Amino acid sequence: MTDRYAVVGNPVAHSLSPEIHAAFARQTGEDIEYGKLLAPLDGFAATVDKFRAGGGHGVNVTVPFKFDAFRYCEPTASAVDAEAVNTLDFRAGKILGYNTDGIGLVTDLERNLGFSLCDKRVLIMGAGGATHGVMHPILNARPKLLVVANRTVDKATSLVARLSHSAEFSVTEISARPYPALDNSFDLVINATSAGLRDEMPPLPEGIFAAGALAYDMVYGKQTPFMAFAQRRGARTADGLGMLVEQAAEAFSIWRSVRPDTRPVIAKLRIRN
Ligand code: ATR
Repeated sequence: MTDRYAVVGNPVAHSLSPEIHAAFARQTGEDIEYGKLLAPLDGFAATVDKFRAGGGHGVNVTVPFKFDAFRYCEPTASAVDAEAVNTLDFRAGKILGYNTDGIGLVTDLERNLGFSLCDKRVLIMGAGGATHGVMHPILNARPKLLVVANRTVDKATSLVARLSHSAEFSVTEISARPYPALDNSFDLVINATSAGLRDEMPPLPEGIFAAGALAYDMVYGKQTPFMAFAQRRGARTADGLGMLVEQAAEAFSIWRSVRPDTRPVIAKLRIRN
């Protein structure tokens, strides 16, 4: 019998996840069906309860429900680290929660873009859910320096305070800054703010890109002002399409115990997005 999965969000119509998982299923020969579930803003749990009761095997969770999903599940280590969940697995009568966003980003950087984080100077812009979700996997890749910059600096400070006492991450110097106080140059600058969605960008000062730097925007499918800014200053740029496909591949591996080859899927989506 075909196993059923879905992505839950609001809005969800634009989601590429059904297409990505359909491509993974064709490639691996897994018999799955993957749909979209639009949940009311106050109805995440009720929507997922209904899907489970109808025999659903798992869901991906997107904006704005990653914190609701965290509260809904039994969180595994990746979810506890991120305090947010993007993948739920309903096997064996349990509701296990995972977060595959951070590992998806690191895989895209290291494997697809050939950018090794080890010993690099990294700036991440934003201190919302997107940043929370990726901090541990970035730190596990052992950069030399990780600076979190945010317009509301208190949010960056409390995020950094939680991590900087961890002996686990002692190889990395971690700090929080407001944008005007950025005085380093960085090998990697990640835009994890939602500014690009409104054609805005954080107020970055000049001189933040080191020679050969990579500018990475988690937004995909559009040229953001940040990417244009970076290109004008000679940085190499990448959007978040690879991260989207890699986080999906991690979720697929959790559900099906087989890891799809992401390259042809990224290449095909790249033609259209
Ligand atoms: P998400 O869960 O997608 O990260 P969020 O929690 O609403 O969404 O966080 C959005 C992030 O984008 C925040 O860090 C926000 O900065 P503030 O905390 O100061 O609000 C950042 N952001 C949004 N628009 C921005 C802009 N025009 N310039 C700079 N930062 C912006």
